[in-house]
Amino acid sequence: MPLEEADEAIRAGRVTVGGRVVRQPLAPVAPDAVVRVEGQRVSVSPVTRVLAFHKPAGCVTSTVDAEERQPTVFELLVPSLPSELARYSWHAVGRLDRNTTGLLLFTNDERFVAHATAPETKLPRRYVARVQGQATEEKVEPLRHGIRLDDGPARPARAKLRAPDVVELTITEGRHHQVKRMLGAVGLPVLALHREAIGRVVLDVPEGGWRVLGDSEVSEGLGYTPRQGART
Ligand code: URA
Repeated sequence: MPLEEADEAIRAGRVTVGGRVVRQPLAPVAPDAVVRVEGQRVSVSPVTRVLAFHKPAGCVTSTVDAEERQPTVFELLVPSLPSELARYSWHAVGRLDRNTTGLLLFTNDERFVAHATAPETKLPRRYVARVQGQATEEKVEPLRHGIRLDDGPARPARAKLRAPDVVELTITEGRHHQVKRMLGAVGLPVLALHREAIGRVVLDVPEGGWRVLGDSEVSEGLGYTPRQGART
């Protein structure tokens, strides 16, 4: 429902929240409240929005940098959004290390964060790492079978050699420093790391840039049914 129409319906007393008529357009509404317009139940959750952001190196994936020396990804992203997107409350979907570059998803839907980061979802994340030393098939072979890390076994990963010092690694979990720890465990310390893809979504915007994913990218590419709630 467009904002002006919603406003009019509220002022006219046609809207109830939890069974009571509400005449204040800006009255707070609990996320689980039952909202009805002329008796018909409506969803008050905003539609799911997912953004693909190209994270540059040197910024942190948190809302504040404890040392306040580096910008946060939110400080880079939010000011560049048009007002219709900037008004949402954005969540980063997982994390990239300060110096890792590449695809970082943002969403206004916390259920999507839970979906995409749950190990059970097994969403593939494709990374490209420049490593110290010479990568060989022999060295990366254990990663294909699953190696033991200090916080438990890592699932079998897809490992491909792109150059003598460049390894493509696709993993289906997102544990802390996982790629660096996996490659380090087979004698290939990571010098630089970049994330190219998540699910079927491949990074296609320049560094610092972003774009909104379409519903089919979210549903088919990331395995999530987007919320189609009221367009608030
Ligand atoms: N694995 C890492 O080691 N670092 C990242 O930033 C992402 C995955």
